[in-house]
Amino acid sequence: MRMTRIKKPRSASRRLPVEANGRPRIAIVIMAAGKGTRLRSKHPKVLHQAGGKSLLAHVIAAATGVVPARDVHAIIGYEADSVREAVAATGINFVVQKEQRGTGHALMTAREALAPYDTVIVLSGDAPLITPETIARLRDFHLSRKAAMTILSAVLPDPAGYGRVLRTSGRSKEVQAIVEQKSATPKQLKLREINSGFYAFAVRPLLAHLGELKTDNAHGEFYLTDMASILRKAGESVGALETSTPDEILGINTLVELAEIDRRFRMAKCRRLMSQGVTIYQPETCVIDCDVAVGPDTVIEPFVQLRGSTRIGSEARLCSFTVVQSCEIGDGALVQPGCVLEHSRVGDRTSLGPYSHLRPGCEICEGAHVGNFVEMKKTRLGKGSKANHLTYLGDAEVGENVNVGAGTITCNYDGVQKHKTIIEDGVFVGSDSILVAPIRIGKGAYIGAASCLTKDVPADSLALSRAPQVIKEGWARERRARKK
Ligand code: UD1
Ligand code: CA
Repeated sequence: MRMTRIKKPRSASRRLPVEANGRPRIAIVIMAAGKGTRLRSKHPKVLHQAGGKSLLAHVIAAATGVVPARDVHAIIGYEADSVREAVAATGINFVVQKEQRGTGHALMTAREALAPYDTVIVLSGDAPLITPETIARLRDFHLSRKAAMTILSAVLPDPAGYGRVLRTSGRSKEVQAIVEQKSATPKQLKLREINSGFYAFAVRPLLAHLGELKTDNAHGEFYLTDMASILRKAGESVGALETSTPDEILGINTLVELAEIDRRFRMAKCRRLMSQGVTIYQPETCVIDCDVAVGPDTVIEPFVQLRGSTRIGSEARLCSFTVVQSCEIGDGALVQPGCVLEHSRVGDRTSLGPYSHLRPGCEICEGAHVGNFVEMKKTRLGKGSKANHLTYLGDAEVGENVNVGAGTITCNYDGVQKHKTIIEDGVFVGSDSILVAPIRIGKGAYIGAASCLTKDVPADSLALSRAPQVIKEGWARERRARKK
């Protein structure tokens, strides 16, 4: 990202620290303390997800595309602990606004955090479509005009609900004030240039005048928007940059709006993958999270969900109604319809499903097959091994080229503890076998069908444990005769 080199105002350069390279120190503040009453949810608005990521995480990602995480400060309040925990890994800072008394009040609580900076860019935690490019454009415009405040504005066909930007005259670069929808005159309501809720401020005049905000308005709150007229009256320069991408400023106030923004993220993700060589049939039916990666020539059929940190190789095929949560899937893998795969690794040229369930911690090695109605948990299935039908493998280590017959079950749980099943290379497990763990089946052993095994099986042996077959000749015929 290119930084604009500017000369700093003299008064500021004496007091405020400047980075070694002489560039102004820029902070980004993300306002995220509100509950989001209009969502009618007990969860904080900024933790609701769109495109598989919380709204706040999207805004943080955009912010850290412009400044390092250490210069990003989120203002949190409602459910502060859960918000902090959800995004702590990003390395940003937090300011707690205990009582949410308005957007202006939010900035008041961040006074101390802002003091070391020259410039602050203010973003809204509920507007997740913002991009680093637009933030950088706002920064450059603001710095080049040496303004005290710059508003990112947008011209919308329907400006209802937003604050309106009042320019000093028709096409003037200077802004006189922002009026909120509720306080606007009928004439002002006709203005289509709206306040996006994103701003850049010079920190010194902002902090000098922040205390002048009042609560004599429709909501009885400190409006950050009032800083426009306050700074203007103090003789400072207040400008507005009209964005060329008004879609980016869309905020979320209701769950209907959340669904719309989620749809935008998903479609944008599908378009990006398709432009990278991924075939997606009926992309509007697929749910692919923002951070998912897919290699070229992979085919994604309708109604597939790829979530979390999922990584898929090239030339794989994901058939309909498969849900993948944070898995790694190799090149040329075939995932047939209806599979549920969670936190597992699936190797190259494997085949899964239809209707296989990998619970967390599985590793399916190269060329292995997992078939119809097979459930696995914390299990490693070695190269070329097969578990094709109606099987449960839990806490198992299965070697290479093992055949696990239909209906095989590892009894890994004794009601108190979990135990391991180890099946070495080349073992043949007959259908309907029950392996009571802990147990080890030695290399190359054979298990007769319908065995219930409780002891280790030595390599290259046959293990059988089933009731001997009894034949009573003519028994059925005689029974039928008795009934007549
Ligand atoms: C605000 C602007 C409005 C603009 C609109 C754009 C004001 C007074 N109005 O209205 O001009 O058109 O954004 O979307 O600023 N927040 C806090 N602490 C508080 C209050 C709010 O952190 O005490 C946070 C909220 O969590 C939210 C953001 O600030 O993320 C914006 O607040 P919100 O109440 O949604 O403002 P709008 O009514 O949308
Ligand atoms: Ca809002």
